[in-house]
Amino acid sequence: MSKIKSITQIGLDSKQSEALASELNVLLANYQLYYQNTRGLHWNIKGKHFFELHVKFEEIYTDAQLKIDLIAERVLTLGFTPMHTFSDYLKNAKIKEGKNIADAKTAVELIVNSLQTIILLERNILKTAGKLNDEGTLTLLTDFITQQEKEIWMYSSWLKQ
Ligand SMILES: [Fe+2]
Repeated sequence: MSKIKSITQIGLDSKQSEALASELNVLLANYQLYYQNTRGLHWNIKGKHFFELHVKFEEIYTDAQLKIDLIAERVLTLGFTPMHTFSDYLKNAKIKEGKNIADAKTAVELIVNSLQTIILLERNILKTAGKLNDEGTLTLLTDFITQQEKEIWMYSSWLKQ
């Protein structure tokens, strides 16, 4: 007699989907820290790179805001609940709070380090999504990674001045 597998409303294995959703929630938590850190950089940056970086950080947090929504709504599409409180974000994120950063080099290093953390998380999520044949999550994260890798190259180049 074959075991009956529990399937979600989009036809994926329920147990594996739950594991995937919790990994996506950890990514969401990290993205929220990244987002809020970047807002702080936008506000507090000082010095001769002010105009350039003030605009760049706004670009980064605007993009992060879009990705945050896509990650949260993927969790919902999979049939689970996205994390949404500050306390849960702080508990689950590897990225630390960047407080009162005014120095350009420190700020851009924070961006690069955060993106590196995020990419590693995403590569692990790709493994889980691959086992599950979850094309939706695979496509979403593949696009994120391609863009973030390019960003790491650009911000690292800027740091080599
Ligand atoms: Fe602003």
